[in-house]
Amino acid sequence: MRIPDYPTGDAAGWAKVDGYFSDLLAPPEPALQAALAANAEAGLPAHDVSALQGKMLALFITMTGARRVLEIGTLGGYSTIWMARALPPGGTVTSIEASSVHADIARTNIHRAGLDQRVDLRVGAAADVLPGLDGPFDLIFIDADKPSNPLYLEWSLKLSRPGTVIIGDNVVRGGAVTDGGSTDPNVQGVRTFLDMIAREPRLQATAIQTVGEKGWDGFTLAVVGQG
Ligand code: DHB
Ligand code: MG
Repeated sequence: MRIPDYPTGDAAGWAKVDGYFSDLLAPPEPALQAALAANAEAGLPAHDVSALQGKMLALFITMTGARRVLEIGTLGGYSTIWMARALPPGGTVTSIEASSVHADIARTNIHRAGLDQRVDLRVGAAADVLPGLDGPFDLIFIDADKPSNPLYLEWSLKLSRPGTVIIGDNVVRGGAVTDGGSTDPNVQGVRTFLDMIAREPRLQATAIQTVGEKGWDGFTLAVVGQG
């Protein structure tokens, strides 16, 4: 069993159900399995999305017809591969990774998956890379350092158009998100991010809690409107 990020509650039961659903709906595929194995082998933090979450991102792309996807936080490229595979011909994922070590692993994983043409990997702090990107993007997945989530939301809005979908990972954090007095900068980053989403007239949003092989966490889902 994968070690959950937030091992509260019935973690073993949640992981078992994830395994059952994954086997049916997101069964192992060589390039994705190889990426996960390479990431673990290299000692990357086990923060890859689950297979079912990767499939959800892919379905969001299919549902919205997204062609230009922005990912903030590549890690080893597991979610990048899920999203790139869902794109129509000519579609691209621009994915930003601050760590050159992680980016090297991601590049190898993406190459092995045959997706070089669909992924534009940018190495550098997102705060430095984002100002150089050309929008609009159709779908944006924010999954990097959580203290910077407020900045990433600002940039996501700048790089969006009406209809752009913005997803933010890890906003529950084992329930810690409700602790306004938390000294954890990740929690504070996520809380400010949620406040900004709530106050932003251009966004319609929800937040969904999830349990599964990563424990208890969740994501925000927002769509940009006219404001
Ligand atoms: C953390 C980050 C992630 O992107 C994730 O999916 C799970 C946990 C973290 O920093 O704790
Ligand atoms: Mg994450």
